[in-house]
This record gives sequence, structure tokens and C-alpha cells, in this order.
Amino acid sequence: MGKRILVITGSPRKGGNSDHLADAFTKGAQAAGHTVDRFEAAHHEISGCKACDTCWSKGVPCSYSDAFNTDFAPLLEQADMLVFCMPLYFYGWPAQIKAPLDKMYAYAGEKSLRRPHLTESAFIICGEEKTEGPYSGAVESYRQVSGYCGWKDRGILVATGVWSKGDIHGTGFLAKAEALGQSI
Ligand SMILES: Cc1cc2nc3c(=O)[nH]c(=O)nc-3n(C[C@H](O)[C@H](O)[C@H](O)COP(=O)(O)O)c2cc1C
Repeated sequence: MGKRILVITGSPRKGGNSDHLADAFTKGAQAAGHTVDRFEAAHHEISGCKACDTCWSKGVPCSYSDAFNTDFAPLLEQADMLVFCMPLYFYGWPAQIKAPLDKMYAYAGEKSLRRPHLTESAFIICGEEKTEGPYSGAVESYRQVSGYCGWKDRGILVATGVWSKGDIHGTGFLAKAEALGQSI
């Protein structure tokens, strides 16, 4: 049976390299019979976690209600798999995608009224750096998050050497992203 996959993107640049990687992954996953939802974190207003520890006290995951509660959480709660897709920003995750990740703290505590049933994840990242070493911090963050959450990692794709919008088209990374989607 097809899975419900949620792709969360992190770039504010519409039609940029990571957008195309997300498109390619989606194409592959849909061809394999899965349903893919997409949440563009950089095009929603989501604040960082305030560490107030009042998650769920208002019946919703975050007491500081924003697009996390209204737009992201409903998609997250119905997903079987979460796929992160982002550019490398200062050797880490863009703030726009880190914010909803931090707010997922609401689901980790005992007070959580609902829990996502995610079992799998994958990670796609692109950047200007031409070797994989500079991406290692961002990749390790993903590994630790997926390990902590108990998700089975289904693949990590590091698309190196892409800077300007459209650079991704001259590489083999879109084919790799599509193959990753098809492998799910
Ligand atoms: C704020 C900012 C920080 C960046 N930091 C890095 C970096 O640390 N290393 C790197 O290789 N590229 C860095 N880049 C370049 C982007 O990762 C690269 O242009 C990527 O292809 C952008 O993806 P997008 O087109 O999906 O937005 C940075 C770009 C921006 C705007």
C-alpha cells in the first residue's frame, strides 16, 4: 500500500535548487505509488520554540499558535514518512526549517495529546561547497534527529556544487533524488 510522505522544504528561493530536488523526489515517490504532501517552511510564518513548556495546554501542539499548528501539524500527523529538503546555510539548517523542527518538541513529551505515526525519513541538502565534508554538521543533525525520533533512515542525498538558481540542472542530482523517491 502506498505511503503518505510529507516533504518539508527549507529554501525561501522559489524555483531554486532544493525546490527542484523536492520535485524530483516527489516524481519518483509518486511513480512508486505513494502520496506526497509538501510543506514549504520558508513560505509560512513559524516562530522558534519559546521553551514555555505549555505544549498542548490549549488543545493544540504549540501555545504560540502560528502556521505550525494550522498548516504543518495536520500534514505531519497523517504522514508515514518525513523528507527534509533544504539548502546548506552557514554549514547548518536554514532557520526557516529549523523552526518547525524545534516545535515538533510538542510531540515528544508525555503531555502530547496526539502523536505522529512517522516511521521513516530521508534527507536532501544542496549547497555551493563542492565536497561533502562541509555538509557533515547538517547531515549529522539529521542523523541524530531521526535516531532520537526512531525513524528508519531511507536515504541521504548531498547535492554539492550548486550555487545559482538552475545550477542543479547541469548535475546528476535530480536523477538521484528521483531514484531516492522511487526507492521508497
Ligand atoms: C544565507 C545563506 C547561507 C549559505 N550558506 C552556505 C554554506 O554555508 N555553504 C554552502 O556551500 N552554501 C551556502 N549557501 C549557498 C546555498 O546553499 C546554495 O546557493 C543553494 O544551492 C541554495 O539552494 P536553493 O536554490 O534551493 O535556495 C548559502 C546561501 C545563503 C542564502
